[in-house]
Amino acid sequence: MNKIQPKSKYLGKNIIFLPTCHSTNDFSAELLQNNLIEEGLLVYTDFQSKGRGQRGNIWQSNIGENIMASLILKPEFIKVSSQFNLNIAFSVALYKTFEPFLGDNFKIKWPNDLYYNEQKIGGVLIENTILGDKISSSIIGFGININQTNFENINATSLKNIRGKDFQLNTIYESILENFEICYDEYKNGNFETLKENYLKILFGMKEIRSFIKGQETFLGKIIGISDFGKLQIFIDGYTEEFDFKEISFVFK
Ligand code: BTN
Repeated sequence: MNKIQPKSKYLGKNIIFLPTCHSTNDFSAELLQNNLIEEGLLVYTDFQSKGRGQRGNIWQSNIGENIMASLILKPEFIKVSSQFNLNIAFSVALYKTFEPFLGDNFKIKWPNDLYYNEQKIGGVLIENTILGDKISSSIIGFGININQTNFENINATSLKNIRGKDFQLNTIYESILENFEICYDEYKNGNFETLKENYLKILFGMKEIRSFIKGQETFLGKIIGISDFGKLQIFIDGYTEEFDFKEISFVFK
């Protein structure tokens, strides 16, 4: 793979490549314990033997075919109660990166799955360290299917499956870093509301009537927004209810 050389000022200024590792998030957590890390370090790999997804899932990927990385931030300006805002800023940056290839069929499925129509193309796993009421460090792990074409899960897809050609991973990494630096700076400069408006525009299922599952129960509802604490707001039978991400799942056709 060609070198990653983003035009960003501080995100991706330092980069570590691991040919293989357990998990880039776990490797980043170990580095952070030694406390010698500057904000913006990118750790990326060609293969993870213990890649982790959300809800304790495993994240699998063929060797060298996909994006698998963790970006380390020190977002001390973010309060713990607002931690979901970082997902929002990163999701908007991913949309800006992939919209030129995938158009507006590319969506963010709350809380932070990446979808193309009804198929998953990637996911984000953000792990924060908290000090007092602030986030002292954040590991933004992301896995995005680019050149892999065979998946065990029939609900998974890739950029190559959709567009029918290979893509260079380094230019996609560069674009993610450059777009995210813009979004993250916007957030730092107090312009979060625009990011949130953009997030709601690209949210999977927004204002559509869909089925959801909570516990044993399936119900119909319409997503109408995200609360300040990052909960999903769904309009059900005349009322708005808020759900935490462990409480609810989407039903797929
Ligand atoms: C999900 O959709 O469940 C989130 C997947 C996140 C996977 C990435 S791959 C790089 C980083 N390291 C990990 O162990 N997980 C994340």
